[in-house]
Amino acid sequence: MRKPLVAGNWKLNGTLASNRQWASAVSPPPSVDVVVCPPAVYLPQMLDVLQGTQVLVGSQDASEHGSGAFTGEIAASMLDELGVNYVIVGHSERRSLFAESDQRVAAKFTAVAQAQLTPILCVGETEEEREAGQTEAVVQRQLSAVFDVADKGLWQNAVIAYEPVWAIGTGRTATPEMAQAVHKTIRDMLTEALGEDSAQQVRLLYGGSVKPDNAKALFEQNDIDGGLVGGASLKAEDFMAIVAAAEE
Ligand code: 13P
Repeated sequence: MRKPLVAGNWKLNGTLASNRQWASAVSPPPSVDVVVCPPAVYLPQMLDVLQGTQVLVGSQDASEHGSGAFTGEIAASMLDELGVNYVIVGHSERRSLFAESDQRVAAKFTAVAQAQLTPILCVGETEEEREAGQTEAVVQRQLSAVFDVADKGLWQNAVIAYEPVWAIGTGRTATPEMAQAVHKTIRDMLTEALGEDSAQQVRLLYGGSVKPDNAKALFEQNDIDGGLVGGASLKAEDFMAIVAAAEE
């Protein structure tokens, strides 16, 4: 019922030349939604070279503000104006390296959804938190901050990415069973906050060392609707193999 979605998060990587090459090598099947999130400065280029293809373009972040004296920030309405469709909010690197609080992430989610863009809200626990048995509490806290400010209508197209921090860029993927368990918990939290119908529509992505050789087993899980892919999205061939794993 939920269409699979595979999103590539390039983080701080890319060049004009390599981006162009990547775009020419990626042609996804119609049964999978595919999004690439390059650094903001490359958004116009990627929108241009991917025009007429199935690949949509996303931003790695957006401001919670609409306009004003916020040097360096980019408003959701500006992304919308360019033709961007998706925006990652609350990636763990932004939370930990740039001190984004749950409340700020929630404000970003709201700004993005109000601009008619699709937020990809990232949640996930650190290794310490998992070992202390706090995974569920952490995810609940991160989601509750958003439930507190974003009413039901803003969740209509929203996507959640569960990215355990200990699995990001480490080569240590959560097992399909571990990931599914948290995804099921997230689905239950959504059901409680939004009701069954809306909760069933939200796509839940897994992120954290998704590779061509582990993607299929992850994507086969009931509540895993695709992936948010970092390192492996940089190579077109690997990214396409991951997209193929999401095909039903
Ligand atoms: P890796 O796939 O490199 O582990 O990164 C995951 C991620 O952070 C995607 O947003």
